[in-house]
This record gives sequence, C-alpha cells and structure tokens, in this order.
Amino acid sequence: MSTKKPGKFLTDIVSISDFSKKDIELVLEKAAELEKMPWQKKQKILDGKVIASLFFEPSTRTRLSFETAIQNLGGRVIGFADAGVSSYKKGETLSDTINILDKYADAIVMRHFIEGAARRAAEVTNKPVINAGDGANQHPTQTLLDLYTMKKEFGKISGLTISIAGDLKYGRTVHSLMYALAKFDNVKVYLISPESLKMPEHIIEDTKGKLKIFETTKLEKYLPKTDVLYSTRIQKERFPDEVEYEKVKNAYIITTKVVAKGKKGMKLMHPLPRVNEITTAVDKTDSAIYFEQAANGVPVREALLTLLNGVKK
Ligand code: CP
Repeated sequence: MSTKKPGKFLTDIVSISDFSKKDIELVLEKAAELEKMPWQKKQKILDGKVIASLFFEPSTRTRLSFETAIQNLGGRVIGFADAGVSSYKKGETLSDTINILDKYADAIVMRHFIEGAARRAAEVTNKPVINAGDGANQHPTQTLLDLYTMKKEFGKISGLTISIAGDLKYGRTVHSLMYALAKFDNVKVYLISPESLKMPEHIIEDTKGKLKIFETTKLEKYLPKTDVLYSTRIQKERFPDEVEYEKVKNAYIITTKVVAKGKKGMKLMHPLPRVNEITTAVDKTDSAIYFEQAANGVPVREALLTLLNGVKK
C-alpha cells in the first residue's frame, strides 16, 4: 500500500479524510490552472501513461470525466464500464483483478459496490488507486469538484451555509462532503432528510466539532439562510426493501417555487443523476448550477491525475 510522505501529495485517493485542507486547496488551484493551460502543454502531463478505469457499478459523469481528463493529459485508458464483461463475472476476486491491473496500468480509477473496496485495492497494489465511489461510503473526487464549484461561485468555502437535502443515509457524495466541509472554518450545515434517511450518526460525531450542524425534515425551513442547496437522489439501489424506498421516493421535489424561497443568490447543486428531485423548469433559473458542477469534474480530475504521486513521469 502506498502511503502519504511528508510534504508530498497523496499517492492514493481513497477517502476525503486523507486530505489536509492544504491538499484540497492545492487540487482546487491546480484545477483552475489546468482550465487555462494550452492544449499542447497539457498533453505532455500523462504522455506514455496508461490509466485503468474499472467500473463495477454504473456511471456516466465520473467515468467519462475521468476518461476525458486522462485523454486531455495525453494518457491512454484501459478498463471496463460494466463488471459483467470482466472476469468478476467468472468469480475472480477484487485482489486478483487489482494484482493484474498493477501489471498493465500506471494508476487505477475504480468504482465498486462494496464499501471499503478502494482501500482494499490500495493495499494490494503500489500503483495509485483513485476511489470513484465505494458503495454508500465515499466519493472523494465528487466532493473535490463540489468544492471547486462552490469556490468558483462564492470565491470561498469557509463561512458558507449549506443545506444538504435528500438521502443522507446512503448518499456517498454527502458523506465525503461533510468531512471536507469540516476542514474549513465557520461552515453551517442544515441536514434535511426523512427520518429514515438521516446522516449516519458517526459522521455527525466526527464533524460536529468543526461544523455547525442542524437536522430537520423540512426542506424549505432554512432556505432563506442558505447559500448552497445541495440536493441528492434517493439511492434506490441501496435500499434492502423496495417498500421502504416507495415511502420516501418523493420526499423532496425542488420546483421553481421552492428555489424562489431561497436566500438571494442561493445556488442549487446536485451530484447527478437526478430522478425527480429537481424539476426541469428549475434548470433555467439562475440558481441551477448542477450542469456546470458536472463540467467541473474534468479539470478537477485532471488536477488529481497531475498531482498524484507516482503517476507522472
Ligand atoms: N455524480 C456521479 O457520481 O455521477 P455518475 O454516477 O454518473 O458517475
């Protein structure tokens, strides 16, 4: 397993908790630099490098923005977008798959349905491993692009008031987001969810020393105080019982009327995909920045691939 050496950037991106505030700021600065970098210069960064993209779970944004980032940096991509076409289908273990990719690739980007799979992969190989989402646990690269989006919009992260609404139990993006926001100063978080989908207690315990946290079931209550409303999908695929999903699937639907109740300048973010939690009419409002947020996945993932120890020449 690769570990973080003093004064160096990380070698694996498994959990947002592995990042210091300085590491996060470095990623955001590098992403801004890469957005302006001339194409020819960018193409040399991963010249001759092969990056494996292993997706054991469905993805549109994370996989394709990583693959775009790799190609923008002059690297080449191997991998699969569906575990069903890999030897996982024949019973191959994750450890064996990673052991093999260790021989083929210079770094591994992996999404897996098992919590802790990325940590396990990082223990098997010395090549950098990037967690592109592990079950309901974490999605650290999503969080970095979320922070990049907030920084672009507000010029800061410290001092923001953020309402996080939806499936806070199973939503891995909001778990990583809580840990990341706790690295900044004076951030207030309103957690809005049905009783059955509350933020796990251990995450609240881990972050409440730094974040000012308020929990509610009411979507609109704190919107007049909110800078960022971060909406999430109810994660149907993680429910053990579909009846329970049916009870909460329409818990929060953000319409133009809901957005109008927000603080002046409030921005609406969502990691996407959405199902029905934001109506399409909201897309045309000034608050809606979720498509820009998804676009920010490319420079942020370029930044991570550029900074990671052990990928570059
Ligand atoms: N935000 C996100 O992880 O989207 P995908 O599942 O499409 O990658």
